[in-house]
Amino acid sequence: MERFPPSMPIAFVLLLLAARVHYAEANPGRRHPIRSIFSFGNSYTDTGNYGKLAAPVLPVIPFSNLPYGETFFGRPTGRASNGRLILDFIADEFGLPFIPPILGEERNFTHGANFGVIAATALDLGFFLEKNITTVPPFNSSLNVQLEWFRKLKPTLCSTPQGCRDYFRRSLFFMGEIGGNDYNFMRAAGKTNEQVALYVPKVVQTITAGVEAVVEAGARYVVVPGILPTGCIPIVLTLFASPNRSDYDARTGCLREDNAFARYHNSALLEAVRRLRCKYPAVKIVYADYYAPVMAFLEKPTTFGFSATTSGLRVCCGAGGPYNYNATAPCGLPGATACPDPATHINWDGIHLTEAAYKHIATAWLRGPYAHPPIFDAVHP
Ligand SMILES: *[C@@H]1O[C@H](CO)[C@@H](O)[C@H](O)[C@H]1NC(C)=O
Ligand SMILES: *[C@@H]1O[C@H](CO)[C@@H](O)[C@H](O)[C@H]1NC(C)=O
Ligand SMILES: *[C@@H]1O[C@H](CO)[C@@H](O)[C@H](O)[C@H]1NC(C)=O
Ligand SMILES: *[C@@H]1O[C@H](CO)[C@@H](O)[C@H](O)[C@H]1NC(C)=O
Ligand SMILES: *[C@@H]1O[C@H](CO)[C@@H](O)[C@H](O)[C@H]1NC(C)=O
Repeated sequence: MERFPPSMPIAFVLLLLAARVHYAEANPGRRHPIRSIFSFGNSYTDTGNYGKLAAPVLPVIPFSNLPYGETFFGRPTGRASNGRLILDFIADEFGLPFIPPILGEERNFTHGANFGVIAATALDLGFFLEKNITTVPPFNSSLNVQLEWFRKLKPTLCSTPQGCRDYFRRSLFFMGEIGGNDYNFMRAAGKTNEQVALYVPKVVQTITAGVEAVVEAGARYVVVPGILPTGCIPIVLTLFASPNRSDYDARTGCLREDNAFARYHNSALLEAVRRLRCKYPAVKIVYADYYAPVMAFLEKPTTFGFSATTSGLRVCCGAGGPYNYNATAPCGLPGATACPDPATHINWDGIHLTEAAYKHIATAWLRGPYAHPPIFDAVHP
């Protein structure tokens, strides 16, 4: 983000992108060591865990209904989007199958496991309950719980300490996005951005501890994504709508204060990543930027194939209202319908992005410019 501020001319960013694609094509035989992917996170990475966790408790799970999954899969898969997620595109680029969710039917985790759960937080459920933040869902799926699942899985993948280090040095780890929900649930419970900001160090410390846990297990390649521009998320724009026009960014229509908060978290996280790189010089730690690409989509939609006539803040699958987002009739439930052309929309359901948006981000994380360093550069020494 700091290297590619939103003010950077888009033509220059595209030039960089083109140069990277060209470089990769010019080196078709470049070998990479990645044989498996392990992913920790929330609804931006979950490929089916939440459905398993919530099914016994919740009568209806919107994500388990069409039009979720209508693009590519043609059926709901538990992914909170119309189609594939960033993780799916990245697995594919490494020649790996889709990474199976840890709670799903597929029990062969030779090529990795996905521990991400919709609505998961970085901080433990107990923390929210102690603080009387009851907007948090009652599922025990925080980062520590996901790491516990990883520890339980480990002996099925490798048996000796050396064998495990050899196995995980050929794995790519995703530590997040995680933390965005912690802040969202605090905001939904009535806290201001200023109050929520007090918890940024605790969330960043939890993510840092997660990176250290996988590094201790033998990880050599870890991707740490920041959070999205919260003030551009339609559910946030709807819940925290302001009558004061100066609360909105004139160019994008996003809520300025919420975006400033997201930048604050991301800069603290990037600082933590820098400290981790010093502590573990043999480990490649990538900071993956979710903020800049979403801003680029909103500022220059047609460059990415998004509609020039529909606001980039309008949801594809919704039930009316200024952003086509209505909390009482969310996507996947009666009343909400999907737009006929999801690929022209940035946002799918008010919170999550469309497959088209995820594909652009996956490419930019792999080849640049929105990951530091780009993942392909990190894994090709
Ligand atoms: C799991 O998948 C790997 C790679 O696809 C395969 O080689 C292995 O035999 C499978 N293991 C089991 C127990 O099916
Ligand atoms: C969540 O699960 C962990 C074990 O994975 C347990 O120690 C903890 O007490 C649980 N927390 C809640 C609030 O149920
Ligand atoms: C928890 O919050 C609810 C409503 O937000 C309030 O009625 C209750 O008094 C609070 N309890 C404590 C222990 O703070
Ligand atoms: C709108 O917000 C600006 C900047 O925060 C503030 O200076 C101004 O007084 C506000 N206007 C109203 C009508 O509240
Ligand atoms: C949201 O949906 C509910 C139920 O369909 C409806 O009663 C309400 O008017 C809608 N709100 C907006 C802002 O469209």
